[in-house]
Amino acid sequence: MADLPLAMLAELTHRCPLMCPYCSNPQELTAREAELTTQQWADVFRQAATLGVLQLHLSGGEPASRRDLLDLVIAAREAGLYTNLITSGIGLTEARLEALDKAGLDHIQLSVQGVNADIADRIGGYKGGFDRKMHVAEHIARFGFPLTLNAVMHRDNIDDLPATIAMAERLGARRIEIACVQFQGWALANRARLQPTRAQVERAKAVVRDAIHNTAGWLVIDFVPPDYYSDFPKACMSGWGTTGLNVTPDGTVLPCHAAQTIPHLSFESVKDWPLAEIWHDSAAFNAYRGTDWLPPLCQSCDRRDVDFGGCRCQAMAILGDASAPDPVCRKTPGRAVLDTLLTEETGQDAAYIYRRP
Ligand code: FES
Repeated sequence: MADLPLAMLAELTHRCPLMCPYCSNPQELTAREAELTTQQWADVFRQAATLGVLQLHLSGGEPASRRDLLDLVIAAREAGLYTNLITSGIGLTEARLEALDKAGLDHIQLSVQGVNADIADRIGGYKGGFDRKMHVAEHIARFGFPLTLNAVMHRDNIDDLPATIAMAERLGARRIEIACVQFQGWALANRARLQPTRAQVERAKAVVRDAIHNTAGWLVIDFVPPDYYSDFPKACMSGWGTTGLNVTPDGTVLPCHAAQTIPHLSFESVKDWPLAEIWHDSAAFNAYRGTDWLPPLCQSCDRRDVDFGGCRCQAMAILGDASAPDPVCRKTPGRAVLDTLLTEETGQDAAYIYRRP
């Protein structure tokens, strides 16, 4: 019997006013007409709670693009789920935030693209976005929502890390998640443009080390270093099919956000299967669950139960083989491919390929 999931990411919609080149959503977006209805989502939330899910992350696209966001939060709270809204802030008015507060929304994660309008609006491809976001942040603070700032870092903004952490302090965030860009979905097309240099990454690590020391007790800093400069892979999703699941806007259930890039897997929908059955019995969730499927190199490694072979989608994207060890791992032959990519691509100049709706 598989472990039970603790968290579910509900991608309510792929619609989004921003056009970030690092967007991790898939190349093919789900159209509005194909999105689950309010009632269908409410049913998924109830099923998730029954299955054992405790935390619900409401994401997108931009979840505020759903006019029924308030009803969805009410439904999730009625199901007994802890609710976290992951948002760019665009589309959240003072009145909507007040209603969400009354409905019991537990937490907000606000994404920031940069530390000033110049860079943030350029990266997000949305003029005026930064100023609107700052207004939304003021309302978030006034209603007393616990706030996490989400900052995706890449070559063009990683040197602003000290100012980004200062921004978290200014906005009253309790936590900041500094995640170096992960190359999945749309972001893959911008990899050469967004990959930070090794020197940038080393400077960023030093900034984070000092900041953790200086902000202890009032700001939690989570730092996700860039995979490509690491020696060993991360335990993606804490292990495939162990603690979390994603539901896409049309109700397809995935073991991770990028799982649809693995072409030999097919994924079930909440429209056809009960959520618990998908979690326990579907072929996709069982494909890389546990460690039995790992190749001999990983089976004999002392990190086998630490990283579970790393990220399946990364192995797929870089090696074309989802069953191979994550090429980030220094012990694997795939690492040479990753190193060649880094040498060839890092520092290349190119225009952003924006994610257009
Ligand atoms: Fe799919 Fe890592 S993103 S396993």
